[in-house]
Amino acid sequence: MTTILVTGAAGYIGSHTCLVLQQHGFDVVAFDNFCNSSMASLVRVQQLANRPMTVVEGDVRDGACLASLFSRQPIDAVIHFAGLKAVGESVREPLRYYDNNVIGTIRLIEAMSCAGVTRFIFSSSATVYAASGKPQFFESSAIGPSSPYGESKLMAEKILTDFCAVNPAWNVALLRYFNPVGAHESGQLGEDPTGIPNNLMPYISQVAVGKLATLSVFGDDYPTPDGTGIRDYIHVMDLAEGHLAALNALAELPPGATPINLGSGCGHSVLEVIAAFEAASGKSIPYRVVDRRPGDISDYFADATLAAQLLRWRTSRSLDDMCRDTWNWQRRNPNGFPK
Ligand code: NAD
Ligand code: UFG
Repeated sequence: MTTILVTGAAGYIGSHTCLVLQQHGFDVVAFDNFCNSSMASLVRVQQLANRPMTVVEGDVRDGACLASLFSRQPIDAVIHFAGLKAVGESVREPLRYYDNNVIGTIRLIEAMSCAGVTRFIFSSSATVYAASGKPQFFESSAIGPSSPYGESKLMAEKILTDFCAVNPAWNVALLRYFNPVGAHESGQLGEDPTGIPNNLMPYISQVAVGKLATLSVFGDDYPTPDGTGIRDYIHVMDLAEGHLAALNALAELPPGATPINLGSGCGHSVLEVIAAFEAASGKSIPYRVVDRRPGDISDYFADATLAAQLLRWRTSRSLDDMCRDTWNWQRRNPNGFPK
């Protein structure tokens, strides 16, 4: 297996994964419509890897574009990152999310099927789990997304599951990410959100660099030790290496589409993340506690046993590493990638 099609390659997780793949000898075909990214990340990936890759600008919903790509380029496996990911936006614009995330996945499966490509890794999310009251999520835990975004991920999982049931030659991993944060240790790749960040780590790092004044902590009355929300943060390079592990293990996975959590298996509170970031950056992070954010749950983290068993992979980077690398990226690129 040598050539991997990576959709959504220019995005946050895609770009780090392309780099890891290139550094492990894979040829990468990077596919993106750049609706939430730019070519700049892929330029940096090629510089860091010291190796060129094929870049195709296109939309995963464009079946003709995909058919043409598969006809001129032999592909051994596909990693499908392309999608929209903002929970609040998905509530306001559900059709856009279902169109992009669900139809995009169907078009891709069709194009792969026509081309005889049967190895597929799908970017799913811990957001498919139901807020059941138990913080540890197993792959067998109750399912119940609470946003159109989460529903779109679950629908794509279901489509792949049903498709695999009648196409037993396919090998499919449904990777459910917990909270990806951090950046490549070089400070050349990282998360570059548009506008004001929705998520904790990019918000903190923009406060640290002086772009935002104060962090709002969404609630300190949760039933957690310090009252703030707890999440399972995973370094984006651990996550990228998880995709490499999944690629190498795909052929040995059980038949059908296999859901696998990618998380560290332990959680950190908002106040712990703030303290770790202050230590890593030497900057103080002013914050004030405000009301809970609607839709948030108190705490959850992964059971990461299945990934260790099936993929022979586990995380190796700490919260301090995540904060150090985020800060290194943010201070070197205060405005993100060159626009
Ligand atoms: P991102 O927005 O940085 O990257 C997604 C990429 O897909 C972007 O480069 C965007 O331009 C591209 N894209 C979107 N729609 C496309 C389309 N129709 N055709 C071609 N390209 C398209 O997001 P990310 O954080 O790198 O997330 C990657 C994947 O992981 C997404 O599917 C996301 O839902 C999933 N995921 C992300 C998180 C997270 O917290 N970052 C958590 C769980 C799951
Ligand atoms: N938080 C704050 N202030 C902020 C932002 C976040 O206090 O400005 C808190 C949240 O309340 C939560 C924690 O920080 O307790 C983490 O919040 P994030 O927004 O960083 O992450 P979420 O867990 O809410 O959401 C993430 C992804 C979603 C995905 C979900 C489950 O952003 O796309 O994980 O995988 F659906």
